[in-house]
Amino acid sequence: MFAVQLIVSLFVHQVMSSGSGRHSLWALASYISGTTLFPEFSVVLMLDDVQVGYFDSELDRLMRVGRTGEEGAGLDLGQEAVFVLREMFSNMRKRLTLVKHCFNLTAGVHVQQRLTGCEMLEDRQPALIMFRDGSNGQDADSLLYNMTHFTFAGREGWEIQWDVMKKMYFQMLYSNVYLPFCVRTLRTLLDREKHLVMRQVRPRVRLITKQVVGGAQVTCLATDFYPRHINLTLMRDSQLVDEDVLSGGTVLPNGNGLYQVRKSLMVGDDELWRKHNYTCTTSHLSLDNRLEVSWRAEFSRSYRVHVISAPVGLMVAALLLLVLLWRRRRRSEGITMETQEQPEEAEL
Ligand SMILES: *[C@@H]1O[C@H](CO)[C@@H](O)[C@H](O)[C@H]1NC(C)=O
Ligand SMILES: *[C@@H]1O[C@H](CO)[C@@H](O)[C@H](O)[C@H]1NC(C)=O
Ligand SMILES: *[C@@H]1O[C@H](CO)[C@@H](O)[C@H](O)[C@H]1NC(C)=O
Ligand SMILES: *[C@@H]1O[C@H](CO)[C@@H](O)[C@H](O)[C@H]1NC(C)=O
Repeated sequence: MFAVQLIVSLFVHQVMSSGSGRHSLWALASYISGTTLFPEFSVVLMLDDVQVGYFDSELDRLMRVGRTGEEGAGLDLGQEAVFVLREMFSNMRKRLTLVKHCFNLTAGVHVQQRLTGCEMLEDRQPALIMFRDGSNGQDADSLLYNMTHFTFAGREGWEIQWDVMKKMYFQMLYSNVYLPFCVRTLRTLLDREKHLVMRQVRPRVRLITKQVVGGAQVTCLATDFYPRHINLTLMRDSQLVDEDVLSGGTVLPNGNGLYQVRKSLMVGDDELWRKHNYTCTTSHLSLDNRLEVSWRAEFSRSYRVHVISAPVGLMVAALLLLVLLWRRRRRSEGITMETQEQPEEAEL
């Protein structure tokens, strides 16, 4: 769904911009109007980058979600949390109704989404609180409070605008009500779900070399690590390779709650001749020392063999093809001889 994509990309951006040592609690909420298979209102609750809870308007209670937790059990964050979620439900419904009215949207499915939550520093002091709304997959308005300043944003020409009264009301609401509540909930969850977000999983690091036209591609690959913060550097004979000449570097989900990242360097034939020693160095929270994997370029041996073997392989393939074609031709000739009356059919 296009709309889900918006909120996921917002979320990824938010999580990625938070530094290590910080912790965050995010609610990803969707309100849907129109007939769908989904509940009218649903919320995914994320502690850092791990989903810990789920709420929807049909259940009307918070459920536990987690790799190690028993799924389906309730997540008890107190009555206040349920109250805040119900409030979010009615507020998002009102907003979407307003948007639909203003843009004459009647028939069909419409979606209102919200990313809201808070972050705290390593010393557990609040760092920020925010919300960001989108209607039908488009950014609508947002608020961010970073403990010293409020930032309000809204789309040009949007029906819901920030005026002075509304800003004052939201400043009061967010700094005095939502921020303390969110940070308190974050601390509670952090204590309770330590095993999920404080866990450290060591990366598996490999150096992969692949022959490409004009040289080789040297790739440093780290997989299956947690948390997502990692430093990966490539050295050439103990000299740091400039990040500009490396490709990749984006940390991606591994699909199993862990992460992966790769960085590649193109090494030309001329450089391969010089037989440098390439070393991939990894530092990660789970490692006491840096993890190093090295590879020495071997142009004269394996690479030359590859270079020679490629045309040889091609020649063999070409020969096989010729033999096959020749045999086919022979066979079709045979058939043609047998069915001389219908040569066209024989050709098929
Ligand atoms: C919305 O629809 C009404 C009647 O169906 C029409 O009069 C009005 O101009 C429309 N407004 C917009 C913004 O399209
Ligand atoms: C908060 O945001 C304001 C304006 O964007 C900035 O000047 C200030 O340094 C920020 N404060 C913190 C603690 O990040
Ligand atoms: C490459 O360099 C690393 C240190 O930079 C060293 O530990 C490793 O033994 C070297 N490898 C080869 C094959 O020379
Ligand atoms: C990565 O490098 C930066 C800058 O040198 C450092 O501050 C950070 O702690 C390192 N992160 C890890 C996981 O080693």
